[in-house]
Amino acid sequence: MLKDNFGRTFPYIRLSITDVCNFKCGYCLPNGYQIDKSDNRKFLHLDEIKRLARVFSKLGVQKIRITGGEPTVRKDFFEIIKFLKNESGIKKVAITTNGYHLDEKAKMLVDSGLDSINISIDSLDRNTFKNITGHDRLPEILRGIQFLQDLNFENIKINAVLLNTINSTEKDFDTWASFIKKNKLDFRYIELMRTGDNLDYFNKHHISSKIFKDYLEKNNWIYQTFGKDAGPSLNYINQEYKGKFGIIAPYSKDFCKTCNRLRITSRGDLRLCLFGNTGISIRHLLQKDDQIEELQDLILGQMKFKKESHYLELGETGLTKNLSTTGG
Ligand code: 5AD
Ligand code: SF4
Repeated sequence: MLKDNFGRTFPYIRLSITDVCNFKCGYCLPNGYQIDKSDNRKFLHLDEIKRLARVFSKLGVQKIRITGGEPTVRKDFFEIIKFLKNESGIKKVAITTNGYHLDEKAKMLVDSGLDSINISIDSLDRNTFKNITGHDRLPEILRGIQFLQDLNFENIKINAVLLNTINSTEKDFDTWASFIKKNKLDFRYIELMRTGDNLDYFNKHHISSKIFKDYLEKNNWIYQTFGKDAGPSLNYINQEYKGKFGIIAPYSKDFCKTCNRLRITSRGDLRLCLFGNTGISIRHLLQKDDQIEELQDLILGQMKFKKESHYLELGETGLTKNLSTTGG
């Protein structure tokens, strides 16, 4: 089992399989994904992903989340999911997607054996959605969600980044409330994080999630306390609603206390924290099947470098230019 010096265990990994994204979210890739010509875009190959998943499974990892960029842009995306689900030894497989072509992919996603899906939707207003992401694709995403539900796919979460002056009025909150009144899914606001690239955007649009917390309390939502491996979201329930609300507030005091995940970038760097400037490449040990023990030792040895907190409140952004390489 992976453990750090602060008593935290890591049954969960997030693996980015590509930096490429087809959206242009204002806080992440405002000019879209830029191909760096000096770099031949060598994201981890399927064989490397297979070895990686096997080693983490041996180290007690029970859940893997596939992220991007946008993970579904990879041609072998479904092959990856099916391998993870059926052959890696890891029990739960999740993805985070921007929902691009979700209507067309819903059936294949369900058939692939996927356990849960996080979809980013920053606004239920078609124009606002378009302005944030650069794409008029809200209808296809909502259709995709409907299809997933028609296929009885249960674990759907929607994430929105909370943005001052864009999607954080009482009316926005009410719109989400009506949505989850009839839809059994979790909707969470994530507080905007400052990254290496987005300082101006951050200064303009960061707002504390307290505004949403106040809204929830005013409207009789009840805070739900959680078990050990619950993750960083504060969840709220209300009997009259099929869905739940949640808040992810990375700047809050105790955020890092419940950290239960490690990250691997699309190029095979192990990241001990989303924002940590601790990261080593493990890719050289993903080349042959007989490297598994060496790789296991390398990963175990890294755990002592995991820090207690991300120190974001001190203005630290670590290595992270934007979240498209580590998948949020
Ligand atoms: N702050 C907060 N959330 C972010 N995401 C991307 N960049 C940021 C940021 N700077 C979110 C996306 C998506 C998830 C992968 O991370 O909107 O929901
Ligand atoms: Fe793409 Fe996600 Fe970044 Fe938006 S937040 S540009 S969907 S990687």
